[in-house]
Amino acid sequence: MDMRLSPTAIVLFLFLLSGSAHSIVFDITTFGGAPNSDITQAFLSAWKQACASTRPSKIVISEGTYEMNAVDVKGPCKAPIEIQVDGTIQAPTNPFALDGAFQWVTIGYVDYFTLSGRGTFDGRGATAWKLQEECGTNPACTKRSMNIGFNFMKHSVVRSVTSKDSKFFHVSLLGCTDFTFDDFKISAPGDSINTDGIHIAKSTDVKILNSDIATGDDCVSLGDGNKQITIQNVKCGPGHGFSVGSLGTNPNEEPVENLIVKNCTLTNTQNGVRIKTWPNAPGTSPVTNLTFEDITMVNVYNPVIIDQQYCPFEICSKQSPSKIKISNVKFKNIKGTSETKEGVILNCSSGVPCEGVELSDISLTFDGAPAVAKCANVKPIIIGKAPSCRA
Ligand SMILES: *[C@@H]1O[C@H](CO)[C@@H](O)[C@H](O)[C@H]1NC(C)=O
Ligand SMILES: *[C@@H]1O[C@H](CO)[C@@H](O)[C@H](O)[C@H]1NC(C)=O
Ligand SMILES: *[C@@H]1O[C@H](CO)[C@@H](O)[C@H](O)[C@H]1NC(C)=O
Repeated sequence: MDMRLSPTAIVLFLFLLSGSAHSIVFDITTFGGAPNSDITQAFLSAWKQACASTRPSKIVISEGTYEMNAVDVKGPCKAPIEIQVDGTIQAPTNPFALDGAFQWVTIGYVDYFTLSGRGTFDGRGATAWKLQEECGTNPACTKRSMNIGFNFMKHSVVRSVTSKDSKFFHVSLLGCTDFTFDDFKISAPGDSINTDGIHIAKSTDVKILNSDIATGDDCVSLGDGNKQITIQNVKCGPGHGFSVGSLGTNPNEEPVENLIVKNCTLTNTQNGVRIKTWPNAPGTSPVTNLTFEDITMVNVYNPVIIDQQYCPFEICSKQSPSKIKISNVKFKNIKGTSETKEGVILNCSSGVPCEGVELSDISLTFDGAPAVAKCANVKPIIIGKAPSCRA
């Protein structure tokens, strides 16, 4: 890139580069937080001062292991704020200790927020997963907290930290704008129940980049009202893949549009890329302009799937078709191994058939032979090499 910069621009550039070096540091230890102890109060006190600071601030949690109970902090803050976690912060193992909190760590209404460091948020979810298994008999099982929730944030970044063994979803994003995950890591066993990696709802311009997600449910799931979402250079597995939906249950849902999933690898996952909508459901908001490109599947059960009759455990009626229109969806350069013969399933709604679905350079194998495509209520555009549809 050729660029001529005025001296003022150079000074401004250097100032921006050195921005974080000039932030005021609020070390958790100066608020009474010490390794091997509970830092709930220390964290809340540090947040209060940092958020009120008129200069950029940084809360630092250094190496070591800490315990923390549920915290819920809110902006607006007076200047950009960063939390740098280099230690391991542990949630109580007893799910009831979080007192029904929706999320263990909740951060909301902050602009220019950064979460950074080499540290880990350890949800210690094993007991909670066990409770979930007893859900039929134990009503307390609904009290499971997610690891981290970001609500109504703008211009924010989560970088390099790890979310581990969440009791429920790892991360939830609600109503956020311009939010980036970079080098983010999620780790939980493949059989941990409902531990979705990142769930995004009603958000615009979200990027998940260069990240590694291993968990027991969807690696990334997109609810309604999401626009301009990019998932790039992300590894998923174990897990249930990248999912749009499930959509349709709520009559007031908003459209999902402009998603790109690019250069991702899914390994030993239940699904690869999936769009799911409920039959017999009131939601009508359309799903449009999604691209899934340069994706490698390694032993994936359903590599490419549109399921507009999504009805797990047969808990719904399929009497009427989904009212959600899916259009302009491109599956491009998808290769690797399928664990089922039907590597591509396009099961669209008989009420509002899919339009503009493109299969371009799909090369998936099952047991060494090319996987097939099974389709209903859609006439995909085939470009290059791709399986043609069977009913
Ligand atoms: C694709 O993603 C992998 C990480 O999964 C990364 O190492 C590689 O550089 C990416 N390739 C391109 C062309 O961005
Ligand atoms: C489709 O989505 C991509 C990715 O967000 C975006 O760059 C592009 O402009 C969108 N196309 C239309 C027609 O909106
Ligand atoms: C679509 O889903 C229904 C319900 O799960 C199933 O009976 C049907 O075989 C599916 N069709 C295709 C083409 O996958």
